[in-house]
Amino acid sequence: MALLPILKYPDPRLATKAAVVTEFDDKLKQLAAGVGLAATQVDRHIRLIVIDITEEKNDLKVLVNPELVESSEETKPWEEGCLSLPGIYDKVTRPAKVKVKAQDLEGNFFELECDGLLAVCVQHEMDHLEGTVFVDHLSMLKKQRIRHKIRKMRLEEERAAKEEA
Ligand code: NI
Repeated sequence: MALLPILKYPDPRLATKAAVVTEFDDKLKQLAAGVGLAATQVDRHIRLIVIDITEEKNDLKVLVNPELVESSEETKPWEEGCLSLPGIYDKVTRPAKVKVKAQDLEGNFFELECDGLLAVCVQHEMDHLEGTVFVDHLSMLKKQRIRHKIRKMRLEEERAAKEEA
């Protein structure tokens, strides 16, 4: 499995809207095997997300060109985190259940009914394809605090790296 570097917030490339996938070729399959989550996060701006919510990591769901078909009126707050924002967690309220239409790696259409953690993950990853990260759902004030915290963490990391050198 290829490990691609993950873009870290607030990298402007995370705000890119991903393009529709039209070629279901080997390149797409290779990327699906390497992407942890949304292709956007590894700087590939195509509509591809890969999700595995199992602890054993044995139920990989690949969604190409995912589209929301239905969202429940019922909403639910969930503490979210993101590989692009290491160390940052906050509650985001989203529809509790969603139905998604997507294509598999061969281009076949399928539908997926999601609730619980899967519903959260699917919506979180689909957001990435629109150039949105979970902190964009938070208040301006919270977002400012998070950006401040990230800057501080980065400075500390740089300092630690210098001391090691
Ligand atoms: Ni994420």
